[in-house]
Amino acid sequence: TRVAIVFGGRSPEHGISCVSAGSVLGALDPDEFEVVPVGITRAGQWVLADGDPSRLAITDRRLPEITSATGAEVVLRADPTSSGLMVLDPTDGPRALAGVDVVFPVLHGAYGEDGTIQGLLEMAGIPYVGANVFASAAAMDKEFTKKLCAVEGIPVGPYAVLRSGATLTEEEKQRLGLPVFVKPSRAGSSFGISKVTDWSQLDAAIAVARQIDSKVLVEAAVVGREIECGVLEGEAGGAPEASVLAEVRVVGDHDFYDFEAKYIDADSACEYDIPAGLPEHVTRRVREYATRAFTALDCAGLARVDFFVTPEMDVYLNEVNTMPGFTPSSMFPRMWAASGLEYPKLVNRLIRTALR
Ligand code: DAL
Ligand code: MG
Repeated sequence: TRVAIVFGGRSPEHGISCVSAGSVLGALDPDEFEVVPVGITRAGQWVLADGDPSRLAITDRRLPEITSATGAEVVLRADPTSSGLMVLDPTDGPRALAGVDVVFPVLHGAYGEDGTIQGLLEMAGIPYVGANVFASAAAMDKEFTKKLCAVEGIPVGPYAVLRSGATLTEEEKQRLGLPVFVKPSRAGSSFGISKVTDWSQLDAAIAVARQIDSKVLVEAAVVGREIECGVLEGEAGGAPEASVLAEVRVVGDHDFYDFEAKYIDADSACEYDIPAGLPEHVTRRVREYATRAFTALDCAGLARVDFFVTPEMDVYLNEVNTMPGFTPSSMFPRMWAASGLEYPKLVNRLIRTALR
């Protein structure tokens, strides 16, 4: 099976995508998969990348980067003679480098996790790992994630949507209370998120979020524990399956589970409990909400669904990630490993599911 691992990309999560891809590349069984590593630069150029996992790791607190110097430029186009996708090297002809059977878009955020590359692959008729166009777009957008999940009976916390230019009204400030989290509606890895503890900080926080997305969400801070759940599409068309749960605790001087705590200082800044220490009935409820959210958004392949659980054991959905991180510190593969599905088996299952 020839699989294209596509990574990097145009979103602020470029570097994280490279680290995720490094882990995926290291886990693929060479006897089973022939790999075509395709990097996308921040400017959107597609290049044939070095698939050496060791070059796709965080070193000295620096994230890897795909540049135009990484490798020969490639273009993707629908293969006219079969349903596959050809990776072409335009410097040589163009010469077909490889037809691929399946694409694993290990891309996070805009132009990767939001339905755009999924649309490209749909048009080319090539199978790919993960959610379809609609589910990707819906889960990328925290406003629509909440709306679609709420109508399915999954509790979401109080929030306000600020479309371009808008700010919070006095009534909304009263309703949400302090502190609030200000977030770009479509982003990931905590990019552009600020915690606001005094309303005087609000405008600056909105400006930071708007650098990433003109639509901004202001969420009431849910006092509670951060609990995550991995979901996989059921095998042979069965119901989606939930992993054991994980709890993430931020320790030390990080204010919340921000970018640095997630990746750069992950070893010292975070404690993880896998499985999370929750009462049985709460665990059951979170896992049920996770699979319900997966179905509500029409997800496929995989998703990581994030929650808050309050001291009263009320459960609130935080967000849904249709291409969750696959880095060594990422929760999705760790939760599945704790559920009995080791990293290489997980990657294998995702590719097999895409080909089904
Ligand atoms: N957006 C990051 C990669 C995650 O959800 O893990
Ligand atoms: Mg996310």
